[in-house]
Amino acid sequence: MLRCITCQAVHPLRDVIYRCGSCGDLLDVVFPRPSETAAALAATFRARRMSDNPIDRSGVWRFRELLPFYDQESQIVTYPEGNTPLLDAPKSASYAGLRRLRFKHLGFNPTGSFKDYGMVTGVTQARILGMRAVACASTGNTSASLGAYAARAGLLPIVLVPETGVSFAKLSQSLDYGALTLMVRGDFDVAQALLRKLAPRLGIYILNSVNPFRLEGQKTVMIELLEQLGWEAPDRIVVPGGNLGNSSSFGKALRELHDLGLLTKRPRITIVQARGAAPLSEAYEGGHSETLVRVHARTLATAIKIGAPVSWKKAARAVDWSDGWVMSVSEQEIADAKAVIGLDGIGCEPASATTLAAIRRLASEGTDERIDPDETIVAILTGNVLKDPDYTIRYHQSSLFEEFRSETIVTDHGRGLTSQFANPPVVVDATEEALMAVIQKRLDIIG
Ligand code: F0G
Repeated sequence: MLRCITCQAVHPLRDVIYRCGSCGDLLDVVFPRPSETAAALAATFRARRMSDNPIDRSGVWRFRELLPFYDQESQIVTYPEGNTPLLDAPKSASYAGLRRLRFKHLGFNPTGSFKDYGMVTGVTQARILGMRAVACASTGNTSASLGAYAARAGLLPIVLVPETGVSFAKLSQSLDYGALTLMVRGDFDVAQALLRKLAPRLGIYILNSVNPFRLEGQKTVMIELLEQLGWEAPDRIVVPGGNLGNSSSFGKALRELHDLGLLTKRPRITIVQARGAAPLSEAYEGGHSETLVRVHARTLATAIKIGAPVSWKKAARAVDWSDGWVMSVSEQEIADAKAVIGLDGIGCEPASATTLAAIRRLASEGTDERIDPDETIVAILTGNVLKDPDYTIRYHQSSLFEEFRSETIVTDHGRGLTSQFANPPVVVDATEEALMAVIQKRLDIIG
């Protein structure tokens, strides 16, 4: 069934609703605890990796005892997705002043971002409900994922993206997957509000993270991570926050695993927002996490350029349950952290780099939230580096902050910004000597 997070009213699983019919708040998918023991469940999850059935191999459906909302396997959509790596990042660790840091890289998904974990369950539910068309408002990644999964399920994808600020790489995906792609003259928050009104009038199914079936799939990021860690929870999990669906699903997953006995300690969930798009962080820093004041969002990390995050109450619930924290980082910190992650041979998109920027700050600041260098920390990278190549190239050519001055003035209070780790391409004459000279110079630097 579906249960309201505030008034606890319940609704049938098959209702096409996104909010509580009584009080209008967000809904959770709730289900009885599986009858298997924790050890038996863990063994089943692991054994499925050897199976040839695509449903068993999926990094989402492999954990289906914890996603019980469908009746038949034939309803399930899968690419497959998930099974993303946990990567050691020594250069990033040293940049942050830690002994060790690992990244769980969700950009290794079929459409290049974490959204596939939740889209697969959302589109499956759309199929169960007999919907013809699915829709989302998006800063680019949700629309790419929705496009692909709807196409595979034979549903019409409809996506609303802001007319400006969405990366072309992401836009190109939804076009190729045949999505009706609407570039709305307004920002993400405007598009999201419009879709909410439109969807019931047109009979189309919303697959933004307000849809609780999306969040069910995203829970498996945490289940998979804990399995990779031998069910030993880290001290802290750091995740970027935009519309706050991902962090919400992490909290739900950890709570459920805790209730099942698969998790004994509560890892602290630390959510990181970009400073110009940080309504939840502002609420926490101001000491009033029970209210959210929407902001007009500004950041070059366009994936998280969101001022009125729909899932903020669920995210706050996750932070409070785990004794976590919400903070924000500047454009300078994001851009430099992204370049440092790259030096570990791990590309990511700007929103993902908020994590390393935050960890570095928390490890150096003398506040209550201070990170101890011995803490075990997993940072979540949400998108592939190829999702936003313009940003990366502009950073390395030291032109990023000039081209987007209007955004950065707000987010960095007009202070100058520099590409501290710039690695610009070198234009060379097409001769052996010219190439020799440039390469030799670099070889001399490394010694
Ligand atoms: N990282 C990336 C790369 C994202 O695309 C998003 C959100 C987030 C982090 C934030 O996750 O919303 O669950 O807090 N992108 C959405 C989109 C809004 O439309 O693609 P969140």
